[in-house]
Amino acid sequence: MSEKKIKRKVIRITMLGDSAVGKTSLISRFLTQNFDENYLTTIGKDKLEKKVVMSDGNEIKLIIWDTAGQERFHSIATSTIKGSQGIVLTFDLTKRSSFNSLEGWLNDIKENSNEVPVVIFGNKCDLFEKYEVEENEAKNFAKEHNLEYFATSAKQDINVQDGFNLLAKMAYEKYSGNNSLDLNKPKQKSEKRFC
Ligand code: GTP
Repeated sequence: MSEKKIKRKVIRITMLGDSAVGKTSLISRFLTQNFDENYLTTIGKDKLEKKVVMSDGNEIKLIIWDTAGQERFHSIATSTIKGSQGIVLTFDLTKRSSFNSLEGWLNDIKENSNEVPVVIFGNKCDLFEKYEVEENEAKNFAKEHNLEYFATSAKQDINVQDGFNLLAKMAYEKYSGNNSLDLNKPKQKSEKRFC
């Protein structure tokens, strides 16, 4: 029987990364254009949805799973990887330990998925004076792992749309078998000076 790829109508994206790196804030910015300074930690996981039209005219539903970064919820986060078609792996540019955790998160992804598309967000790029991770180090890390990297700010809406949109395109292209999409990265990532 010939294997025919079916055009996907639903793409599941999972947010991963340490606690307080900004996963919930990034989703909120992407879905509703809002930002909240208050920190309300995610318990377990949350599910949010958005309809997007791909460049071939097909409408797909993005389901975004917001997982909790806290260690006690680690197994819930890793189990959410299974069945995902895309992962946003986030660290906080002002918190070195969250960058150091990326390797562990990538191992979790490897163990629980079959080469699912991943993009790395270095979040809070508005706080450039507090950086604990240099831009080049983050870029090199992503390059070594053959992943796309975006310096993002949920607070100032920098690169958030571009990052999610690229991941959605990568996932759609991989799982729907549609190779005709323009998967080039946006040429101008940000007008802002420091991200
Ligand atoms: P967990 O649910 O515990 O895993 O945290 P989280 O990764 O979902 O982090 P959350 O989005 O709750 O953000 C944590 C804190 O960082 C909040 O106080 C946010 O307002 C703040 N924050 C998130 N994104 C940014 C950003 O881009 N810039 C700045 N300056 N603060 C941010």
